[in-house]
Amino acid sequence: MAVIEISGLSRAFGPVQAVRDLTLELNEGEVFGVLGPNGAGKTTTVRLLNGVLKPDAGRMRVLGLDPASQGKEVRRQTGVLTETPSLYERLSARENLRFSGTLYGLGRAELEARVDAQLDFFKLGPRADDKAGGFSKGMKQRLALARALLHGPKVIFLDEPTAGLDPEAAHQVTQLIEQLSHQAGRTVFLCTHNLDEAQRLCDRLAVLRQGGVLALGSLAELGRTLWRGLWVEMDMQTALRADLRRDLTRQPGVQRVEGEATRLVVHVSREADIPDLVSWLAAQGARLMRVMPRRHTLEEIYFELQEQPEGRPA
Ligand SMILES: Nc1ncnc2c1ncn2[C@@H]1O[C@H](COP(=O)(O)OP(=O)(O)OP(=O)(O)O)[C@@H](O)[C@H]1O
Ligand SMILES: [Mg+2]
Repeated sequence: MAVIEISGLSRAFGPVQAVRDLTLELNEGEVFGVLGPNGAGKTTTVRLLNGVLKPDAGRMRVLGLDPASQGKEVRRQTGVLTETPSLYERLSARENLRFSGTLYGLGRAELEARVDAQLDFFKLGPRADDKAGGFSKGMKQRLALARALLHGPKVIFLDEPTAGLDPEAAHQVTQLIEQLSHQAGRTVFLCTHNLDEAQRLCDRLAVLRQGGVLALGSLAELGRTLWRGLWVEMDMQTALRADLRRDLTRQPGVQRVEGEATRLVVHVSREADIPDLVSWLAAQGARLMRVMPRRHTLEEIYFELQEQPEGRPA
């Protein structure tokens, strides 16, 4: 089921086309990554989906609601960590969370329990009664995340959630996102510049450039639109005989064979070709130690996409 539907969405600021004819669907329970250089339109898209900005054209639905006319209801049912979260600096961490909780209509006992749980999870317990204004950037970010998740929303928008966090806190947030989607079935709309994080977390990704979608799909799908095939690294106990190596290049699905001595790199058309190749090699007496199918990383895909001249992969 599509939890977020966007079609033909556009929004300009004066001469700048911040979002350009954007069409996307997010399914329930998926972590959807939105990547793209500064100014690509990621934050503007989040603000449109939260009903904070109105579109110039296009259609959006979040949990079946139209953010442009039902923004308040959308914000009640979703959680958002904005790019520059604003906290009540003169209120303590606990008071900040309590205040948001009352806006979501949580009852007193439930609210207190959830506030304690969030403070604990985000390791803010010891500073719970200190004013948020005195917090470090990372502590503010953790408090803002705690606030975004306080009411247990089904859909969560995270605009660069790990920016400014120390490695440990960033790791915790990454784990939290994993838990949210894969255990609790929440849908996560994640804008990030951290490609490793995106590769690890996201079921599907959209790469934006100048407000438009450059590419959309799973990591494997994005890789396939850019390059044909994949490659397998094969380690042998002893070097493959020259005649076998020549025959290997003639096996079904093999595009070419690189590498030398005991380390071969075999380029194949499809993953399904690999088991037959392994069986064939073993039958020829090759002594395989390790077979490792490889794909392009998100980082390689990202930079290749940004190089595409017309903004679309071939
Ligand atoms: N309120 C605004 N007024 C004028 N221009 C805006 C406004 N908000 C966004 N823009 C412009 O829209 C474009 C997209 O901005 P947006 O913040 O959505 O990018 P982004 O992908 O989130 O970038 P970043 O990675 O830097 O966060 C930019 O050119 C930006 O200057
Ligand atoms: Mg942004």
